[in-house]
Amino acid sequence: MSSNKEHLLMVGCGAMGSALLQPWLDENFFASVTVVSPHQPPFPGVKWLTPEKVNIGDFGGQSPLPTLLCFSIKPQLFQHVITCYAPFVAAGALPISIAAGVETASIAALLGNSSTPVVRAMPNLAARVKKSATTLWATPGVPEARKKVCERLFALNGSTTWLDNEQQFHAATALAGSGPAFLCAVWEAMLSASTLPPAMTAELTAQLWRGTLAWIEDKGGAPDAAMLSALREAVTSTGGTTAAGLEALQPVLPGLLKDVLDAAALRSQRLADGYKKS
Ligand SMILES: NC(=O)c1ccc[n+]([C@@H]2O[C@H](COP(=O)([O-])OP(=O)(O)OC[C@H]3O[C@@H](n4cnc5c(N)ncnc54)[C@H](OP(=O)(O)O)[C@@H]3O)[C@@H](O)[C@H]2O)c1
Repeated sequence: MSSNKEHLLMVGCGAMGSALLQPWLDENFFASVTVVSPHQPPFPGVKWLTPEKVNIGDFGGQSPLPTLLCFSIKPQLFQHVITCYAPFVAAGALPISIAAGVETASIAALLGNSSTPVVRAMPNLAARVKKSATTLWATPGVPEARKKVCERLFALNGSTTWLDNEQQFHAATALAGSGPAFLCAVWEAMLSASTLPPAMTAELTAQLWRGTLAWIEDKGGAPDAAMLSALREAVTSTGGTTAAGLEALQPVLPGLLKDVLDAAALRSQRLADGYKKS
């Protein structure tokens, strides 16, 4: 194990928790890891997570005490689950939540003290392959050194971006948290729209995404709208096939994607409002 002094208690290890945990274990970030789950190993869909890799189960008897708590349970479960972890927080563990739409004030209140320092993170499922676009937010009480630990931790899953304020989580969750599902839906729609045989369509579409991304990345930096527009225009001849397709796409796409991101952000806001009232 590493000389790092952090001890992790991971509460919930489903799709997102396990995607985060795999690189953390690969890099030996923690001195110890305990996973709390209602399941006994092998966990559904997480067969690699074995008792040889982590302690599994009884959080009450964990020794040494955790220094970081990571809550990766569904937002709907939060209020029923996290209060029993308050003693660890009182003993100095930093709570990190990846739940969509549960604000730090609600988390601190559930942990029994409104001034409890809390970190929120919004990763996405690319965390497992170290390509997540993770946004982070810390309450003012989180010491700079603890923020750095969180940043180093989530950097093992991809890029990290500190938000300017917690309100931005709604838009960040919609864009980067839910984003992989939206891109899968677009990909899926391309598969359905093609008139080629399904296997051929699947091969061509996969290479289309890979190739387009590599082509854009080759230009360097994070592309802004002006750069993408220039690239698109560079491959669009007047009166050609690409122009014909874009004529069908452009009147609907910006409005559609705005509706998609607004709907996801609104759901995040509603979840947050629900917690404030409960
Ligand atoms: N999935 C994503 O793309 C994504 C992206 C960013 C953030 N998030 C956030 O990540 C969190 C987890 O989402 P997920 O997709 O990983 O959900 P998930 O696959 O359902 O994982 C949650 C896990 O927690 C377990 N669990 C339930 N009650 C528990 C308890 N009392 N103690 C410990 N574990 C418990 C669940 O077991 P059962 O299956 O038996 O209920 C399940 O294995 C959510 O808050 C979500 O907002 C998800």
